[in-house]
This record gives sequence, structure tokens and C-alpha cells, in this order.
Amino acid sequence: MGRNPLEDAAERLRALGERVRQTVGDDLVDQIAPRRTPPEPARSLDELKAELESLTGLETVKEQVRALLAFLQVQARRQELGLAEVATSQHLVFLGNPGTGKTTVARLLAEMYRAMGLLKRGHLVEVDRAGLVGEYVGTTAVKTDRAIRRALDGVLFIDEAYALARGESRDFGPEAVETLLKRMEDHRHRLVVIVAGYPALMRRFLESNPGLQSRFSREIVFPDYTTEELVSIGGHFAGDAEYRFDEGALIGLRSILEHAKRGERFGNARFVRTLFEQALNAQALRLEGRVGEVGADELSTLTAEDVAAAARMLGEEQPRRTFWRR
Ligand SMILES: Nc1ncnc2c1ncn2[C@@H]1O[C@H](COP(=O)(O)OP(=O)(O)O)[C@@H](O)[C@H]1O
Ligand SMILES: [Mg+2]
Repeated sequence: MGRNPLEDAAERLRALGERVRQTVGDDLVDQIAPRRTPPEPARSLDELKAELESLTGLETVKEQVRALLAFLQVQARRQELGLAEVATSQHLVFLGNPGTGKTTVARLLAEMYRAMGLLKRGHLVEVDRAGLVGEYVGTTAVKTDRAIRRALDGVLFIDEAYALARGESRDFGPEAVETLLKRMEDHRHRLVVIVAGYPALMRRFLESNPGLQSRFSREIVFPDYTTEELVSIGGHFAGDAEYRFDEGALIGLRSILEHAKRGERFGNARFVRTLFEQALNAQALRLEGRVGEVGADELSTLTAEDVAAAARMLGEEQPRRTFWRR
């Protein structure tokens, strides 16, 4: 996808804002900056649903999101008609290993809340432990408050939230949780919180605190991708960037993914993205010295050799049966 100059300018402005923020702190920026607007243009619920459906795999996730949307639509309509709200909370738990699409779906969901009129801005603020917990007494509540304020009218996405429950003495994680729970109550209609992380650790985290457990009652499980799904996601990464894997490259990619060690550390789609990016580097090296002579087709093609080189750069063992020459 080509970028247009306006997007570039917007990107640079955002980066500048971020730098100012780091220098002078959020409070001042919130005072001087115009209220950040939601992603423009606002997309309709149908468009957002279509984008969700277009994601590779994730069938059970899509089903659960559909159920959630149906429920929320009823709630939104009830709100319109002045009927009582159901106490059941709209806050969510996303269980899954890294790279399984949690942030991607959270971002879409935030926009969906907006499309349904349940959140005014529908932006996503992503934080982890470091974004909520301070190092000294008294700083944690301030930090957590600040993150929540940024997320108001949108979604606060807390990645690896179980890290808040370390529970060693002098650990301020629990203080962040207490602040969070309180603010969730204060801003019931202006904030959706999603906590995300490895399934086992997250379950333990939620069970550690009854307040958490009752407010985060809806869980969505993100399974690891199959090899074929990962190959297809790789194809999307390439396509979006106007590249393609040739036949040999696809065979190589499939083989690497099949042999990659699976487990909590496996990066799923993120691993594929890194492979793709390394393959771009490998291709550039392969074309070195004759870039001026190659046409668009060759410039856009990743070969088995590129994929193999990418895997080597990432320290992935060569699968036993190789389809490429060394
Ligand atoms: N089902 C999918 N289809 C296409 N791309 C995906 C899919 N799942 C994840 N990705 C891509 O993989 C990368 C990692 O996904 P992300 O949502 O950040 O995972 P997580 O938050 O679970 O670590 C992102 O670039 C995302 O766009
Ligand atoms: Mg993520």
C-alpha cells in the first residue's frame, strides 16, 4: 500500500507529539493539545465487521466477537430507550500467546464500540506494566490515572496484565489494579478495558482478585495459528507491501513454519512478520550490484533463497529437507 503525503505528515506530527509528551509529560500535553480525535474517517459497523472477517483464521474469535456485538447492540438500543443497563460488564479478557491477533482485534473492537455509539472516540490506548506502575511510592496511582485519562471514550488495552500481580513486597502492581478498578467504576460509560496475555498466567491473575474476576467476565481465546494460516498471513504481509513470495519461497516458508519450535515463546504472526522483513533484506543483498537493471517484477519477488537466508538470520534451524541450494 502506498502512503500518501498527508499520512506521512500526520505520522510526523504524531511522532512530534510523542516527543513533546515524553519531555513535558502528559498533563501539559492534554491541556495544550486539541482533544485527539478518533481515527478518521469513522468507519461503519459493516465495514469493521468485514475487516474482522477478512483476518486469516481466528474462527472462534470471530464467533465470539459476533456474539459480543449482538449483545452490545441490544444494550445500546436499551440505553436509547431508557431501559435499565445490565450489570454485566463490557470489559474483556483476551487470552493468547504473542502474535495471535489480540491487539489487531482490540483495535477493531474499539472502533466497533464507536460505530455502535457506545464510545465517543473508539481509540485504543495500549499499555503494559511499565505504563501503569511507578517506581516510587505515590507515583503509581498518578501514572495509572494518566493512562486511563488518555483512554477515556476509548479502549484501554493492558498487555501482559498478569505482570501487575507480582505481589512481591514493595511492588506497586496491586496499587495500579486498585486504581484501575476504581476508575472503571467512576467512568463506567466512558471506558472499556481489555486485559490481555498468556492464558495460564492471566487466569491466575484474575483469580487473585475478586474485583477483577467480577468485572472481567467475558473471555475471548486466541488460539495459535496453524502453519497454513501463518503462510497465508505471510502472503498478506507481502501483498500489503507489494511483494510476493514465489512458489519456491512459499514452500520454504511453509517448511520453516512447520519446523519452528511452538510454545509460549513462538511469535505466531509476529514471527512471520519478522521473517518477511528479513527476507526483504536478503532479497536486497541478492540484488546488490544490479538493482538498476531489474524490473518491477523481480523487485517484488521473494525467492526460496531469500526465505532461507531470512530463517538463518533469525537463527531458525534449516529444516532437514531443503528445497533450496546453500
Ligand atoms: N489473522 C491475521 N490476519 C492477518 N494479519 C494478522 C492476523 N493476526 C495477526 N496479524 C498481524 O500480525 C501482527 C501481530 O498481531 P497482533 O495483533 O499485534 O498480535 P498480539 O497482540 O496477539 O501479539 C500484526 O502485524 C497483525 O497485523
Ligand atoms: Mg499485542
